[in-house]
Amino acid sequence: MKETNTLEERRILLEMELSYLGNSEFENAVKLYMTEHLGDSFLLCPASINYHRQYPGGLFDHCIEVYNIYKGFFNSLKLNIPKHIQHKREMLCVSLLHDVQKIFKYIPDQAPQYIPKIPFCHSVFPIYDFKARTGVDIPDHLANIILSHMGPWTDADRYPQTLFEVLFHAADNASARLNTLKEKRK
Ligand SMILES: [Fe+2]
Ligand SMILES: [Fe+2]
Repeated sequence: MKETNTLEERRILLEMELSYLGNSEFENAVKLYMTEHLGDSFLLCPASINYHRQYPGGLFDHCIEVYNIYKGFFNSLKLNIPKHIQHKREMLCVSLLHDVQKIFKYIPDQAPQYIPKIPFCHSVFPIYDFKARTGVDIPDHLANIILSHMGPWTDADRYPQTLFEVLFHAADNASARLNTLKEKRK
């Protein structure tokens, strides 16, 4: 996936992605969390400091890329699950949420005020922060995908177990590795 260049470009793309979401309590809370609670801080954060997509906005580009890779796996395996449109919308939410701890770690000056007593573990943080700010729980099957997304490098005591957890971990890992290789060749 190409890199976005400006904050405005990322604002427009985020708005477009969020417009695909439905009106469940969770999906509405995701719209609110991404725009009102995190806002530009999400769009200004790098995906990493010394690994992949190190530029401002790298986190956003990474999240959209993970979602696109995930959809590619899902489509190529011809997974025909019940409610698969809803599944894809939920996976867009997971993709946007899975790394939000990076905002508070990498750009603390621009992050929304940190809410105390929230574990700062990478894979656990999104679940606590989302609930603390929106009052809505991330559904368990999606929270487990976030908790296990780091695979063997997890700090959450959950290794990917279900097919969707494995696919999401693979998509996240593929995005990070592809961009690290690309950046090394520059
Ligand atoms: Fe992560
Ligand atoms: Fe990630």
